[in-house]
Order: sequence, then C-alpha cells, then structure tokens
Amino acid sequence: MLRYFTAGESHGEALVAFLSGMPAGLKVDQAFLDRELWRRQQGYGRGGRMKIERDTAHILSGVRHGITIGSPIAILLENKDWKNWEESLPVGEGDPGKHKRVASPRPGHADLAGALKYNFSEARYVLERASARESAARVAIGGLAKLFLRELGIEVLSHVIAVGVSSIEKKEISWEKIVALHERNEVLLNCADADAEQHMKEEVDRVLKTRDSVGGVFEVVAHRVPPGLGTYAQWDERLDALLAAAVMSLQAVKAVEIGTGISSAASPGSAVHDEIGYEAPAGFAGFTRTRNNAGGIEGGVSNGEDIRVRGYLKPISTLRRPLESVDFTSREPVKAAYERSDVCVVPAAGVAGEAMVALTLAGCALEKFGGDSMGETLRNFRGYLEQLKNY
Ligand SMILES: Cc1cc2nc3c(=O)[nH]c(=O)nc-3n(C[C@H](O)[C@H](O)[C@H](O)COP(=O)(O)O)c2cc1C
Repeated sequence: MLRYFTAGESHGEALVAFLSGMPAGLKVDQAFLDRELWRRQQGYGRGGRMKIERDTAHILSGVRHGITIGSPIAILLENKDWKNWEESLPVGEGDPGKHKRVASPRPGHADLAGALKYNFSEARYVLERASARESAARVAIGGLAKLFLRELGIEVLSHVIAVGVSSIEKKEISWEKIVALHERNEVLLNCADADAEQHMKEEVDRVLKTRDSVGGVFEVVAHRVPPGLGTYAQWDERLDALLAAAVMSLQAVKAVEIGTGISSAASPGSAVHDEIGYEAPAGFAGFTRTRNNAGGIEGGVSNGEDIRVRGYLKPISTLRRPLESVDFTSREPVKAAYERSDVCVVPAAGVAGEAMVALTLAGCALEKFGGDSMGETLRNFRGYLEQLKNY
C-alpha cells in the first residue's frame, strides 16, 4: 500500500516528505527529481520567494546505491529562506519581540478559519502550514511515483488551459505537444498554444499593474495508462473519485474536472460519449475510441485512453491592494495583511497536480499488480498486459 505524508512550515528549516510502500529495486534518478522541483518553481507571475529557493531533493532514507530498498523513503527539502526566519520563527521559545505576527486575516486564505480552529491569537502559524510551499514536498515524492510509473510505460505531464479569461478554448492538446512543452528549459505559462500563452501573459501583466491576482485552469494528462486501474465496486476505490480528491487537495484548487465533465453536463449524450471501435492491435486490447471526452475513465475504471484531469484554481488571496479585514486584537476594520506573494501560479499548480495524479495512479497500480520488488511488480504487470492482448 502506497502511503505518504508531508511535514514542514513555509519559513521553517525544511520540508520533509515520507513515502511508504514503494517496491524495492526502483532506480532513483536524482537529476529527474530535482528537475521536477525546478519545474514547480517556474512560471510567469511567481513572487520573490522562488528567486530565493532552488529546491533539491535530499533523500534521507529508503534509497541505497541508487535504488529503493522497500523501506520508507524520507526526503528533505531545505528552505533557503530559513536564515531570514531563524529568529522570528524558532523552534524554541525565542524572543517574542522578534516574532512576525499576521495581524489581520486575508479573505480567501486559511488565516481566519485556521486561527479560530487552533485557537491562535493571530495567523502566523496558520499560513506557515497552509502555504503551498508544502506542495514542493509532494512534487519530490510525486517524482518517485513518476519514476515507478515509467517502468510500466506510463508518463504524467501537465499544461495550462487558462489564466483568468485567456484560454486555449476547446482545443484538445495532443500528448506529443505536451511532451514538447515539457522539454523547454524556460517556462512562461506552460501553454502549448503560443498565441494563447501570449494572451495569458498579458492577463498576468494586467493584474500585476492593478495589484490584483489571477487564477486559471491546468490539465494533467497521464499517457499509456492500461485499462483496469480503479474500480466501480466500491465508492472509495473509484479512480475518478481518488483523482478528484488528490487534485482538490492542492492549495487554491476549487474544482476538478475529468475529461470534458463540465461542458458534458450541458450536452446531449450523443455529443458526449466516446464511440467504440475495434482495430487490432491498437491500444491495449484492440479497442479504439473516436474521441476522449471521458478523460480515460468510465465507471471509476481507467479505460485505456489518456487520463485527463483539470484543476481549477481560484485567484491568489494575498493581494497587494488588500481587501477589507479585521484586526485580530482590536477587532477594528483594517486592510488584510500582505506578505510577499505570487500573483499567478497556474503552471506550478499543474506540476503539483502531476505529482498528485502520479501518486494516485502509482497507488492504484500497486493495488492491482502488487509486488515487494520491481521484478515482481513488472512480472505481474506484463502478465496482465498479455491477458489484455489475448482478450
Ligand atoms: C503553487 C502554489 C503557490 C501558491 N502561492 C501563493 C502565494 O504566494 N500567496 C497566496 O496567498 N496564496 C498562494 N497559493 C494559494 C494558497 O496556498 C491557498 O489559497 C491557501 O492555502 C488557502 O487554501 P485554499 O485556497 O485551498 O482554500 C498558492 C497555491 C499554489 C498551488
């Protein structure tokens, strides 16, 4: 069973991620993990923090001589910014005069709900953990899940569909185009359509000028996923439900769509469902589809087409022209607190979305194929592929 947790505060010493249940014998590519972390730090509209950090996955346990050994994996990501926070956010009592209070909660952030829940007099500890700096830890272990999936021939990538009102419209972006996008060494808005990307950049420039923020939509695509991951047999084992929860768990994601789920609700069945053909040796079992509106999942089970999951992000809630709020102490009306912030994070959220999709698919694959070593997992996997071929 694949399980994972993260720990760490945004301005603490480090983030830590734990991954348990990965079979032994998976080759770990450090450069790949670090590139994944780099990808999460990119994108037009990021704040000053990303100029300070240059994340690298420091593996503490579970990997020896370059391969996983079946033991729990712990990864540490150093926070370079810690040196600026050691006195204001110490583990020990420290000097209360040096603490950096967050005096008025930001509408849309976790500040008020968190302070009420944990009975804090202000929001510093809340935002330290609610912050999406945490998503870096998920990307590190998501990288391991991607390396595992690669052994099964499965790849997971993302691209940006919309920033604010600028979008690629209804075009389905091919897998090849997404791969080409991923190979770029400069990330603007991670959009496969150059004209749309330019409009997205203008959208970010507009909010930068008006001291506002902007949300958008990313799409994660998982390629060459065999039919049969997830099941309709139990509500909590449905692949669509697991993916929706995983992607929704990312900071600022407020809706998740599988395939064309949202527009499908307003379309007739004939325009939605993906007609079936047969053309051996196509795909995994010879069955073909005319299109992929289902996003690769029917009945909570992968159907052999690309899995397409979209995450809808609300605009960032830290605004340089802050909204109305209330002082935690005096309860008088004041402007919401401002702390150095991103204004657009859609490409970065897409990379974190990839990590969540990869971890979910790796968990489902291990559920189906099992195995304590990669040799055992791959033997079972190949046996299943053979079964599909002979179906
Ligand atoms: C990659 C990424 C970076 C983010 N950066 C910021 C940021 O700099 N400032 C901010 O206010 N919110 C940022 N957010 C969003 C907040 O973390 C999020 O809105 C907040 O934790 C409240 O959670 P909720 O939006 O899910 O309700 C970011 C989100 C993501 C995915």
